[in-house]
Amino acid sequence: MKNLISSKTTKITNLLWDIFCVASIIGIWPRFIEPQCLITKKLGLSIRNLPKSLKGFKVLQFSDLHLNEHVKNSFLEKLVKTIDALKPDLIVFTGDFLCYSELNDRERLHKLLCQFKAPHGCYAIFGNHDYEEYVSINDEGVYDVIENSSPSLIRGFKRLFKTTTLKKRISTRALTIGSHMPLIEMLATTPFNLLQNKTVGIVVNDAILNLCGCGEYMLGDFKPHVAFANYDSIHPGIILVHNPDAVPHLKDYPGDVVLCGHTHGGQVNLPWIGKKFTLLENMQFKKGLFSLHEKWVYVNRGIGSVIPFRWLSPPELLLLTLE
Ligand SMILES: [Fe+2]
Repeated sequence: MKNLISSKTTKITNLLWDIFCVASIIGIWPRFIEPQCLITKKLGLSIRNLPKSLKGFKVLQFSDLHLNEHVKNSFLEKLVKTIDALKPDLIVFTGDFLCYSELNDRERLHKLLCQFKAPHGCYAIFGNHDYEEYVSINDEGVYDVIENSSPSLIRGFKRLFKTTTLKKRISTRALTIGSHMPLIEMLATTPFNLLQNKTVGIVVNDAILNLCGCGEYMLGDFKPHVAFANYDSIHPGIILVHNPDAVPHLKDYPGDVVLCGHTHGGQVNLPWIGKKFTLLENMQFKKGLFSLHEKWVYVNRGIGSVIPFRWLSPPELLLLTLE
């Protein structure tokens, strides 16, 4: 009964939101047009001592799918077709399949993931929306379990009127949150291999590429000492991290490229509102390419969002070529 009421409230708020966006005219672009504009960023990165066999190796990164009722099937079809046409050697997903840990659209997510293919495989890590319970920043600025049954739009608007300072601390409760078993079981029946604090060696002819996936930072599941246990630093490597705030903690670990998501590139890049949408320990990690501790770091804008609204931050795919 509670679920029924909550689903009705969600439908009503979604409808009111759409009416507002159309009526305000300026809402049409960020609500209906920009979220559908899938852009492919092609990036060649120079890697030290890259073996010949890995020169020109193409890695496709997508992130932050946040599959919910706002994501149209036509957009998902475009996503699959675009990735297919780019012919990547390897596909990686850097977290947030779900919204608020809810696997409501299991069949649609499963069908989507089963359509991806790459000669060297598909790999994924989880984001803060993909665990047993949803962990984010609470009103006190602590990483904590967020319990809220109100629709995502109402939660989003509430954020606009709050000023939160990050405490860089994880609550005791958030530290106890476990894996999302139904999501893990579903993923096991798709082409995607889960890299939860784990490294695999991708064999490319006579060369090996380390691919290391880290757990989520906000839950205390970011455990590089575990993730790098099988990392062979003789070979080059790519590291997958959902939250870019974890990147400075990789200082003493090997690796050439770190691929992140989570920020949605700021999602709404407007004065005042933008700062309310993006809360990071390191605001300079909001989007794009930078280098830190002798590693390339790319923060992907992702392809979805919990609140259907993007302004000056269109959905993005990254096609990375190793050089
Ligand atoms: Fe996230």
